[in-house]
Amino acid sequence: QLNTPDLYQVYKNFFTIGAAVNSKTLESEKELLKKHYNSLTAENEMKFELLQPEQGNFNFANADKLVAFANENNMKLRGHTLVWHNQTTEWLFQNPDGTQVNREILLQRMEEHISTVLGRYKGQFYSWDVVNEAISDDDSEYLRKSKWLDIIGEDFIAKAFEFAHQADPNASLFYNDYNESHPNKRERIYRLVKSLLDKDVPIHGVGLQAHWNVHDPSLDDIRAAIERYASLGVQLQITEMDVSMFSWDDRRADLTQPTEEMLHLQAERYDQFFRVFREYKEVISNVTFWGANDSYTWLNDFPVRGRKNWPFVFGENGVPKESFWRIA
Ligand code: XIL
Repeated sequence: QLNTPDLYQVYKNFFTIGAAVNSKTLESEKELLKKHYNSLTAENEMKFELLQPEQGNFNFANADKLVAFANENNMKLRGHTLVWHNQTTEWLFQNPDGTQVNREILLQRMEEHISTVLGRYKGQFYSWDVVNEAISDDDSEYLRKSKWLDIIGEDFIAKAFEFAHQADPNASLFYNDYNESHPNKRERIYRLVKSLLDKDVPIHGVGLQAHWNVHDPSLDDIRAAIERYASLGVQLQITEMDVSMFSWDDRRADLTQPTEEMLHLQAERYDQFFRVFREYKEVISNVTFWGANDSYTWLNDFPVRGRKNWPFVFGENGVPKESFWRIA
């Protein structure tokens, strides 16, 4: 691997190159991470249910390890995520007697969580996904149904940003979502971010998750999304990129290895995506992959349980794929 260029070095005049990790991959892919990436995100371990499994009982062990590794190796850190409808815990929305909490109590718990987490890591994370996936996928609806929305109301989003800004005034605060390039959802995300900016809510960026595949979305839709969000004057980050070998509707589950043709098509797509990212380097400050290499990806189980996938630019042994050479 000696003649392989370091990916983050190749991109040093464009944007930082990130990977999502967990305690296992932080160990098993240590060398690959150090060589190619200069930004890290916790795949799961900084989500609500894992940081605060019981009220007031924070578990920072894994997050601390991640922060230490990043500091030792001069890597930046993206925080993921503070307010989300998934991976929260039962107690959060409940009183001790099992009834649902009211707005005031939930806001208090939100503030407590955000100020504790951001307070502990103040100055360590350059950006935070403050609110994740609050927009509906359904065209007849604006915000996604969730306990946050139900109990607090629409301003749960603004409140989260305000609490985060109070706790770490120098961090860049992001709204993060998927299907971000889909025309209708793009407009809903735009509407949300614009309404926050109009109210002077401290929001600094939009995260495009970029859970894409070898067929979708189109480059035109991606470009349109980038331009639309950038027109609000915020920065953009590609926060969870993977390029699945399968279209969303393709539920095949019998492949144990990707074919040459699939690998080639994927490389073609990576090439095109990164050309677009480079074109918009003035607004895109980071591109993060939702994993380090094909040895582990959440797509091995999603949306088809047990199906393997190979969505990254490094293969299962960390060997650069054609996709790597095309983007490097
Ligand atoms: C995923 C993780 O990768 C999985 O391990 C976990 O089981 C579910 O969450 N959008 C997000 C990420 O914002 O937090 C999700 O991560 C993927 C979709």
